[in-house]
Amino acid sequence: MNQNPIQRNTDGQLNIENLSIEHIAKEVGTPCYVYSRNGIRSRWQAFDIAFGQQPHLVCYAVKTNSNLAVLQTLAQAGAGFDIVSGGELARVLRAGGDAQKVVFSGVGKTVSEMRFALQMGIKCFNIESEAELYRLEHVAQEQAIPAVVSIRVNPDVDPKTHAYISTGLKENKFGVSFDKAFELYRYAFASEHLVVQGIDCHIGSQLLDLAPLQEAAKRVVAFQQKLASEGIYLHHIDMGGGLGINYQDEDQAPSPAHYVNAIIKAIGQTDIEILVEPGRAIVGNNGVLITKVEYLKENEGKHFAIVDAAMNDLIRPSLYGAWQEICEVTTSNSTKQLIDIVGPVCETGDFLGKQRQLAIQEGDYLAVLSAGAYGFVMSSNYNSRPRAAEVMVDDDCYHIVRKRETLDDIMCGETLID
Ligand code: LLP
Repeated sequence: MNQNPIQRNTDGQLNIENLSIEHIAKEVGTPCYVYSRNGIRSRWQAFDIAFGQQPHLVCYAVKTNSNLAVLQTLAQAGAGFDIVSGGELARVLRAGGDAQKVVFSGVGKTVSEMRFALQMGIKCFNIESEAELYRLEHVAQEQAIPAVVSIRVNPDVDPKTHAYISTGLKENKFGVSFDKAFELYRYAFASEHLVVQGIDCHIGSQLLDLAPLQEAAKRVVAFQQKLASEGIYLHHIDMGGGLGINYQDEDQAPSPAHYVNAIIKAIGQTDIEILVEPGRAIVGNNGVLITKVEYLKENEGKHFAIVDAAMNDLIRPSLYGAWQEICEVTTSNSTKQLIDIVGPVCETGDFLGKQRQLAIQEGDYLAVLSAGAYGFVMSSNYNSRPRAAEVMVDDDCYHIVRKRETLDDIMCGETLID
């Protein structure tokens, strides 16, 4: 499936794969996230195929969308996984993923997460600091399991994206400088409990320009060659994730093939395995959030649609000022008007979109597009709102892959005091 799985048919109905979104909304209720299984699989494959004969592993960034059915779809395609917690590792294993294809990123790994990952035999720990390296060495000694490591370097390039999702600048909390990394590699190389395996970096997310990524790759390769001249040979280079997607209909984002080719070109001819950790570019455009219009309201000439999804369901617009396309699930002949799409949460910042041209009536369904990435995973129970259902579409069938939460679910674990 190379085309966008979300298309409008000639009757004005929005479809995902071969199912009408309205049909799903009516049966499952709203708010509800709906994903395309074939779309997700084919985007992962687009990265994988682009590497050709180059040794490589495409590790899906689990944080982006960690629903078990998403992970299962990717595990069955042969994906590796980039995790940032013990919880994500448990999900990958439950979904049938292979621990030997898992890399563990993140600045705050706890001792128990390290033990779990060591016991499961993951491919590599992406080390973010000196203190973490010493802690891991200790845990590896205690467990009598050597820990395979990569050091995350901070290449200090500007990824030209949103400040909250830039990670490769020296003022960010991620990774270590090349100088520090050199010291850490020497230390790890000499340790009997650590196995030096690779090097990694991740400069930021929603990258639309590949030049900063190529610059980072060149700096990483130069450093890898310096290590080799000291007798420290690496077996992989992990360039992280970050490929952006089109949130507006403007075709700005490079394709997975462009992204992979840019990395290969910057790294140059090598037998070293290349890893990437894409998340958003695999699931982002393969998911929508469906919501229903509860009320229409006018205040001093300003129009609002109050819908049943809110910032607790999709926080990106409120948190980053992110723009995501919102469209009618079924188009009508009514006149369009400029309208703010807001949720029921008691915060002015609770909006999904502002000043959109839409023709809507009470009871209509709306689709928030490009919601497959950093959507459900960032949702919460704020205002005691049960989290949305998640649905996976496969051609003309759908599966509820996460039930809508109930009020009992959200109070479970809380107790009254006698
Ligand atoms: N690898 C590492 C080490 C990361 O930190 C991230 C994302 C990825 C891979 C995947 O990046 P992607 O391919 O998805 O760009 N919540 C924000 C995005 C946060 C990204 C955090 N790190 C958003 O909604 O835009």
